[in-house]
Amino acid sequence: MHFVADPATSQNPYEYYEDGALLVGSDGKVKAIGPASTIISSNYQAQVIDYSGRLIMPGFIDSHVHYPQTEMIGSFGQQLLEWLNTYTFPTEKQFSDKTYAKGVAKTFLNELMRNGTTTALVFGTVHPQSVDALFEEAQTRNMRIIAGKVMMDRNAPSWLLDTPATSYADSKALIQRWHKNGRALYAVTPRFAPTSTAAQLTEAGRLLQEYPDVYMHTHLSENKGEIAWVQELFPSSNGYLDVYNSFGLSRKRSVYAHGVHLRDDEFASLAQTQSAVAFCPTSNLFLGSGLFDLQKAEDYGVHVGLGTDVGAGTSFSALQTMNEAYKVIQLHKAYAEDPSTREPLTALKAYYLATLGAAKALDLDNKIGSFKVGNEADFIVVNPNATDLLKFRMQRATSIVDKLFVLQTLGDDRAIEKTYLMGKRQTVTTGTTGGYNYDYGYN
Ligand code: GUN
Ligand code: FE
Repeated sequence: MHFVADPATSQNPYEYYEDGALLVGSDGKVKAIGPASTIISSNYQAQVIDYSGRLIMPGFIDSHVHYPQTEMIGSFGQQLLEWLNTYTFPTEKQFSDKTYAKGVAKTFLNELMRNGTTTALVFGTVHPQSVDALFEEAQTRNMRIIAGKVMMDRNAPSWLLDTPATSYADSKALIQRWHKNGRALYAVTPRFAPTSTAAQLTEAGRLLQEYPDVYMHTHLSENKGEIAWVQELFPSSNGYLDVYNSFGLSRKRSVYAHGVHLRDDEFASLAQTQSAVAFCPTSNLFLGSGLFDLQKAEDYGVHVGLGTDVGAGTSFSALQTMNEAYKVIQLHKAYAEDPSTREPLTALKAYYLATLGAAKALDLDNKIGSFKVGNEADFIVVNPNATDLLKFRMQRATSIVDKLFVLQTLGDDRAIEKTYLMGKRQTVTTGTTGGYNYDYGYN
């Protein structure tokens, strides 16, 4: 099962074969999909792996996540700005030590694999070596990862600050080392407007000018206190997005996490610049940030992908992220002036946002996110009956769409039976000492 179009605008957004097969070439790319009998009989030389009773889908894409925050997921009691000062900044300090960073990168990538997430757009820390550590680990697995070094030169502890000049030079060196090195892609990553001076945002814009095909990744309009603070720090700006726009940061491959409190003119601007928004429901609920207006983003034609935003997000699971996204949209209806204008989030749209929709948001739909012939064969094998409750409930699910909805509501990493990167099955063996003793190999 995979998507060929957006369920919001297409009558036939997906292809599903009840007894289907995915044919992968020796180059790790998709050669064909179709009915199993046809694929197998016309490719008699191919090795056949039988996953009867399972669902084969493209791997999930996480449009926004912080790998250094893996160890602080589920930290109690604060909203965004206090949460950053209390938990996040002290945690990120440790990533000046590359060996430490490598250990966390391993744990993080293992969690992605376990949850069926085959690509992610990832924040490092301010330390360039944190990004080297992640890319090196991703490369040993041949995993498509987009990441960048955080740029921040104010409003954080001194031990986490760079300068406009060092952030430019360090980011540039990382771009030259990693962008398009194997499957790695680079994202210029100013943390958010409050932690960058105008001089630093100017340098971020300069990098995008010099390297037009890299990504831009930051946070936008997540929390009301944050938005007010941005207005104080940039008093002549016309709102939060205008700050980024004025430094040339909005264009294709620009990804803004959250966008919970965007104004209508800001949605219009995002559409016009072809920027994307990462919808991070578990994070927006956990930090009490608010309810992202997916329907408005759709109306304005803004590209949206689903993000976990771990460690403010509470799960690495795309399924659980869809589950919470559904509830956010339910609350939108409940609080709408005219609830009759509000539609529930369908299962099809939810899976689309975690696969082809995210790939489009990341300008990668010619490589990942669907089983289009020639795409990289990053895929998962899902067991819809992975738990007793799933099995019990699935008996009542009659259509594939019903099954997908039950799976997102009740499923998590237990339902992800296998994860493949470019046609190669990945195995993750959980270790015991501090979580960093993971044994990792190919099968
Ligand atoms: N805004 C700036 N930094 C962060 C972060 O680390 N997490 C979240 N959720 N929002 C941010
Ligand atoms: Fe974030």
